[in-house]
Amino acid sequence: MSGARLMAKVTYRQPDGSERTCVNFEGMTVMHLAIGSLVDGIDALCGGMRQCGTCHVYIAPEWWDRVGPAGEDEAAMIEALEGVEVRETSRLSCQIQLSEELDGLVVEVPADQPGI
Ligand code: FES
Repeated sequence: MSGARLMAKVTYRQPDGSERTCVNFEGMTVMHLAIGSLVDGIDALCGGMRQCGTCHVYIAPEWWDRVGPAGEDEAAMIEALEGVEVRETSRLSCQIQLSEELDGLVVEVPADQPGI
């Protein structure tokens, strides 16, 4: 991460189609931005330690190429999620750092997060 404090925005789309666009500095995660902005449906109970899966989101298809797939450990965590719909575009939002390339990112909040 460079020293520049550029802003990046993320739009969170709810299952009912409503959307909120939130802005913060690069280097934060998509999860931290959601929590700090009180976005519904992202609980992040483990605080970003990749242990809970309650920060699960779907990347909007048009952004998938830029965000890319989960790493091995994250993918294993996603596979183990119970009681939620997992899609090809599933990611844990605590593992996605805001960057200039992701400015304008759109993610969909799942209808349910796993119970832990
Ligand atoms: S916040 Fe727990 S896995 Fe992302």
